[in-house]
Amino acid sequence: MTETSGISKTEFRVINEGSVEITIPEFEKISSKAPVFYNPQMEFNRDISILALQEFQKEIKKSVDICDLFGGSGIRAIRYRKELENVGEVSVNDISSQAIEFERRNSENNNVKLNFHQKEANVLLREFRGKFDVVDLDPFGTPSYFIDSLGYSIKKNSMICVTATDTSALCGTYIEPCIRKYNAKPNKTEYCHETGIRILIGFIALTIGKYKKYIEPKLSHSSQHYMRLYLKVKKSSKNTDESLKNNIGYIGHCLRCLYRVPIEGLMKAVNNKCPECGEELTIAGPLWIGKIQEKKFIENMIHEIPFKNLKTSKKILKLLTNCSEEANSLITFHDLHKISKVLKINVPKSSEVLKALKKERFLATRTHFNPLGIKTDCDINTLKKIIYELSVDSRFKND
Ligand SMILES: C[S@@+](CC[C@H](N)C(=O)[O-])C[C@H]1O[C@@H](n2cnc3c(N)ncnc32)[C@H](O)[C@@H]1O
Repeated sequence: MTETSGISKTEFRVINEGSVEITIPEFEKISSKAPVFYNPQMEFNRDISILALQEFQKEIKKSVDICDLFGGSGIRAIRYRKELENVGEVSVNDISSQAIEFERRNSENNNVKLNFHQKEANVLLREFRGKFDVVDLDPFGTPSYFIDSLGYSIKKNSMICVTATDTSALCGTYIEPCIRKYNAKPNKTEYCHETGIRILIGFIALTIGKYKKYIEPKLSHSSQHYMRLYLKVKKSSKNTDESLKNNIGYIGHCLRCLYRVPIEGLMKAVNNKCPECGEELTIAGPLWIGKIQEKKFIENMIHEIPFKNLKTSKKILKLLTNCSEEANSLITFHDLHKISKVLKINVPKSSEVLKALKKERFLATRTHFNPLGIKTDCDINTLKKIIYELSVDSRFKND
């Protein structure tokens, strides 16, 4: 690459990811202050996007026009252009002129054609209403500032891909920012990442609902420092009303005995006493209490893995297997570490707890949110009993 933006040749870094090679200005640490943003940790996120968008394209059986709303180095848009089959136009946008400059260079060097835009994301969405089949939002921090424009802009039968990196707000480390950005109360429990993802989905559903649009979550995951959603958007006032009625609610949680309960519906009076121990329940929401994974979609993504040459394929297989397993399971999960601490016992193996629960004919699955997490319809007291007995048995075995 020749001199660009006054940066000399020695100050560039060459990145190889997927089937592309890009060049970006050298940076000391990954930060929004870097001249052009690139985070190598997000290769996993981009690899999963390749599989999800390919599956979506197959599902709608036509070529897809894609918009990468926060392009950065252009890596995502260039990969979409090069690695996906049946793609129409790929547009890439960024507010930064330096980012656009590198997006142009990088696309030329990879022999791909993109449409370039340098606009504030909300402006682009409003100008290009009904244009895209896929809109990818990968902003710094919260996507909340862009969801209303997204709802206005997005057409029916499209897909929105949304990243949020403000997990401390969504997970309840800080309560007020979550209320401010997502109009919902978080709860810092052992399953706070699931609550956070449900707050994010609920906020999107409620925001785009005003445009008579509703969502079908295809894949939702919490990985490393971020959360990522793939949501299909459909349009109908009747179905939007139904969807909000059935899928928006709250989660009540007992901090003393670990009982939890999904509460259906918005703004309804709730009995906030724990039925197990009488303690007052803490309430998180409003949030999405419906499904957050679609089994068939995820299984099809898994089948696609061998056909895409992805460095992170082993890790993706593990994540997607867990997501597909939890797809038809229940809301929230129990953390074996937390329960064992309450019972003052050693943490049992998840596989043994799953086996014991299934033997008693309870639903029981792992969850991608936590390797020690178990989703089950077993009530909390029976679960504690089963876990306690497993620990006693193993102590006898070891004596
Ligand atoms: C997290 S980075 C994008 C990373 C990129 N999607 C990737 O996968 O490598 C966010 C980008 O959004 C741009 N940006 C920030 N605020 C924006 C806004 N309001 N409208 C459009 N672009 C914006 C920044 O310049 C930055 O390049």
